[in-house]
Amino acid sequence: MNVKDEIAKILSAAIKKVGLDADRLSVVFSNRPELCDYQTNFAMLMAKELGEKPIDLAEKIVKNAEKSKKFEFDAVMPGFINIKLTELCLSEIANFVLNDKDLGIEKVEKQRLVFFDYGGANVAKELHVGHLRSPIVGEALKRLHFTLGDKVVSDMHLGDYGLQMGLTILQLKNDHFLDDFFEKNAKINEISLKNVTLDVLNDEYPKASKRKDVDDEFKKLADQYTLFIQQKKEPYYTIYQKIRELSVQEIVKNYDMLNCNFDFCYGESDAAPFIDKTIQLFVDKGLAHESEGALVVDVAREGEHIPLPKKSEDEPQRYKNPMPPAIIKKYNGGDLYATTDIATIFMRNRDFKPDEIIYVTDNRQSMHFEQVFRCSKLAGISPAEQKLTHVPFGTMNGKDGKPFKTRSGGVVRLKEVVGMLTKSAEDKLAQNGIVGDKELARRIGVGAMKFGDLSNLVTKDYVFDIEKFLSFDGKTGPYVQYTIARINSILSKAKYKGGRIAISGKDEREIVLAILKLNSSYKICYDAYSLNALVSATFDLASAFSTLYNNQKILSETDDKKKLSLLGLCALVKACLEKALWTLGIDTVEKM
Ligand code: ARG
Repeated sequence: MNVKDEIAKILSAAIKKVGLDADRLSVVFSNRPELCDYQTNFAMLMAKELGEKPIDLAEKIVKNAEKSKKFEFDAVMPGFINIKLTELCLSEIANFVLNDKDLGIEKVEKQRLVFFDYGGANVAKELHVGHLRSPIVGEALKRLHFTLGDKVVSDMHLGDYGLQMGLTILQLKNDHFLDDFFEKNAKINEISLKNVTLDVLNDEYPKASKRKDVDDEFKKLADQYTLFIQQKKEPYYTIYQKIRELSVQEIVKNYDMLNCNFDFCYGESDAAPFIDKTIQLFVDKGLAHESEGALVVDVAREGEHIPLPKKSEDEPQRYKNPMPPAIIKKYNGGDLYATTDIATIFMRNRDFKPDEIIYVTDNRQSMHFEQVFRCSKLAGISPAEQKLTHVPFGTMNGKDGKPFKTRSGGVVRLKEVVGMLTKSAEDKLAQNGIVGDKELARRIGVGAMKFGDLSNLVTKDYVFDIEKFLSFDGKTGPYVQYTIARINSILSKAKYKGGRIAISGKDEREIVLAILKLNSSYKICYDAYSLNALVSATFDLASAFSTLYNNQKILSETDDKKKLSLLGLCALVKACLEKALWTLGIDTVEKM
């Protein structure tokens, strides 16, 4: 059921009757909701070309529109056609949505297989606030695609192949955590990491990372260790695997707390078996050349070349490229971030052949992905028809407008963030007399943050403000969760088992219109790779319901038919809100 299409059909017929072509007809939600529900500026658009008065044309079209029990058409100055849905129409929509398994949300025309690469935690490094947005945005985009009918696959693509691994092992070795492994004739497989715990890793990596910036020898050695891992040299490789295992468990737990689940926890290292093959493709096709000992691919495109001034007439023209070459082999033969990403595309196409791969990382990686995408297209690793999309997100800032830090300026661990949110939610719940339900508090706290995050355009920076996120009224997650909890209580008190909805009056009308807007926001978000429209529409529906709730008695309604209809409307709102929250990756709660 598509209301816009139904309206357009009637108007198109009328437009044809007045002798015009309806190609440019577009029906949109009204921007004057107090006047009408939908509108079109078709008459204004055409009248200009025909040299006619817009209002005259609008009136002609309206006069020729087939009479309908569902829509009222009205020509208004200067030439708009306003469309209002009748209560009969709204009732039909409400009952249809309530009984439709997809709740009236239209699926995409062509179902595609979409592969999601998000999360992207790095092994051996502790997750911190900076790691929140990728799983939050990625999970929501994945669910959005699923809701609209695509097949989805997700991979967290762990960072497990880079310098941080070499650094960590070097530091652990220097601090004597690995002595057993380096003893002569050590039986490597039988040695366990024993005293290397997550806490140790959390100390060791930052130490190493600081030292590499000031100690060149140390950095070179770490480079070498990284290479050893990539070459599977022992005992480095076994140590590496054990560290990886330890931290992956922790990473999965962290993502679980955020309701993020992945089909695969592959990492950069899983692409290793395909690296030689992919590099060879570049070499064979003459796409790669050596530069300062490294192997690079020129990815700059014609129009991007900026000509540099020539020193003499016969000097060949040189260009400055805004897009620098991609390095696919390091000076020491090691593999780089671009190498594993290209090989990963190779692997994903071998295993899945997705129609699109969507990467969700912060915007500092935009150039990296552009290079990787161009390389993959050049070498035919990604077929021309495959869409490769980077969804770059902005930074989560503290109230001071700078990246969110602890009071003392330190990095806030992701676990701590979840702890803070849970604690704040517990305090709020206590005010409502609910104590001792930690899981409930987590659902509300984490949901609040996710709702707050996703209410922003993905590409924009935003301020992390727990107080604001967790407010029980206003455009917040808890407000929507609370609306659902309230409806749950109404429905269970009324022992609701279903009933027909008959829309009457302004408040009820507003609810159905809010549902129509909510349902159309899914596709808007799908096209925009951002969830903010869905968040707003979800809130608008919740607040339309609150208006009804405040103005109208439901449980004590004495007209049975009316009561049943109101309860049906409650069930409808609940279903629509739950679907929206699920899509956003936010839990619902029974009570709060
Ligand atoms: N591990 C990376 C980082 O921390 C993110 C991975 C994103 N995905 C990818 N295929 N490169 O920056």
